[in-house]
Amino acid sequence: MEPWSKIGVALLGCALTASAQIPEKFTNLKVLPPDMPRAELVEVMKGFTRSLGVRCSTCHMGEEGKPLTTYDFASDEKQAKRNARLMLQMVKEINGKHLTAVMPESGAKPITVTCYTCHRGSRQPAGPAPVPPPAPKAGS
Ligand code: HEC
Ligand code: HEC
Repeated sequence: MEPWSKIGVALLGCALTASAQIPEKFTNLKVLPPDMPRAELVEVMKGFTRSLGVRCSTCHMGEEGKPLTTYDFASDEKQAKRNARLMLQMVKEINGKHLTAVMPESGAKPITVTCYTCHRGSRQPAGPAPVPPPAPKAGS
């Protein structure tokens, strides 16, 4: 079982109203499990909005302010959704393939990466790289 709900830094409890407004069955899940329960999927999606500081309509075909029943969630028309799917695939590989292969010498369990790890509440995470510390002086 993948800890999908952790990937988007999900918040428990606020998924219920949105959940009632979206279809029960999903037709276009390519990275998330196609049979994912609705409540769980909504939590992952809410995690996306919080991690990136965006709304459902940033990625999905629908009008802000209109009920979610009017949205076409299965459509891949928006570039942001297609980008998000690539990101989801990337996070899955980082967590499932790379981080699980790391054996920290401390014996600590490797942590998992989430959308928030990089995005920190913003759609464009990439800022200028921090200035590296000066090299240590020889002999110190
Ligand atoms: C950052 C982009 C992004 C945001 C924001 C987002 N979604 Fe999604 N959503 C996706 C991606 C990507 C998929 C497809 C995942 C896959 O292929 O496994 C998806 C799939 C879905 C699906 C399944 C559609 C189907 O039938 O296959 C539903 C329903 C959905 N999202 C609802 C929501 C709701 C409700 C919100 C707002 C709370 C939301 N999404 C916010 C990117 C986003
Ligand atoms: C390892 C760091 C990292 C992680 C983790 C990460 N992202 Fe990103 N993401 C980036 C970077 C860097 C860019 C900017 C790429 C560019 O602009 O060329 C980006 C760009 C995006 C974009 C395109 C921005 C736009 O304006 O359309 C979306 C959407 C997105 N990420 C969604 C996600 C989602 C959803 C997750 C979690 C499933 C995620 N990202 C996890 C680093 C990350």
